[in-house]
Amino acid sequence: MTLSALIRLRQVLPAAVYAKLLSSFWRRHWRREQDRETLKHGRPAPNLVNSERAVLCEAVARQFPFSNVLELGSGFGQTFDTIAPLFPTAYFVGIDVDAERVERARELAEISKLGNTEFIAADAADLSRFSSNKFDLVISSAALLFLDPSQLRAALVESARVGSGTMLFLEQHEAGAGLGYVTEVNDTRGPYWIRDWISVTAEAIPGAEVRVEKIKNPLWTTECWQDLGCLVEIRL
Ligand SMILES: C[S@@+](CC[C@H](N)C(=O)[O-])C[C@H]1O[C@@H](n2cnc3c(N)ncnc32)[C@H](O)[C@@H]1O
Repeated sequence: MTLSALIRLRQVLPAAVYAKLLSSFWRRHWRREQDRETLKHGRPAPNLVNSERAVLCEAVARQFPFSNVLELGSGFGQTFDTIAPLFPTAYFVGIDVDAERVERARELAEISKLGNTEFIAADAADLSRFSSNKFDLVISSAALLFLDPSQLRAALVESARVGSGTMLFLEQHEAGAGLGYVTEVNDTRGPYWIRDWISVTAEAIPGAEVRVEKIKNPLWTTECWQDLGCLVEIRL
């Protein structure tokens, strides 16, 4: 059964049965993805269950049905490579400030034959090219941590304007860190910000609800990710 067919049964199945079917769908899905990657790289791939990729993808699926999704800081397009094939009726727009990454994301989407994605060079702090309420969902994966507090504030305010109420971000969250501090770490992508997402959201979008959920099986090895990697879910 396809994921969208299964999700359509949500209204008619008893909640416990639906939850069981969905969890079995994902177990099989991530096992297949793991096997595919093992084959592709010629070495055993890690277990993806509860990984960053799985947590974001499953959180997106919980929002289905949707038509338009915006990703802030889409990089080489890895997020859509995972999610877009599962929702062929939806359209996925990724923006990234790095034009070379955008170009590469377009090439990779073509190789993967993704017909429902688009990548644009743009700054997450300036979404003025998009009309209000254009997207059902605004998502991001390990990108907003590179924005300083004023850029992040602008990105959140703009996301609230172009989206229709739900944002899902993979980020690092530290309770009590307030609007954030810069790490000493300076890897190839530069230092990044660790913040308390409850404080940041309350400051930028007063009244929004925020839920922060720790990633159980983080696979990214960047310093702090293992301790602080979270899914941040914001609802207006
Ligand atoms: C660590 S990569 C993550 C890429 C992708 N989301 C993923 O999960 O693989 C962070 C990305 O954020 C982008 N980025 C940083 N600052 C940005 C900004 N102000 N607006 C848009 N993208 C930004 C970078 O160019 C980079 O591609």
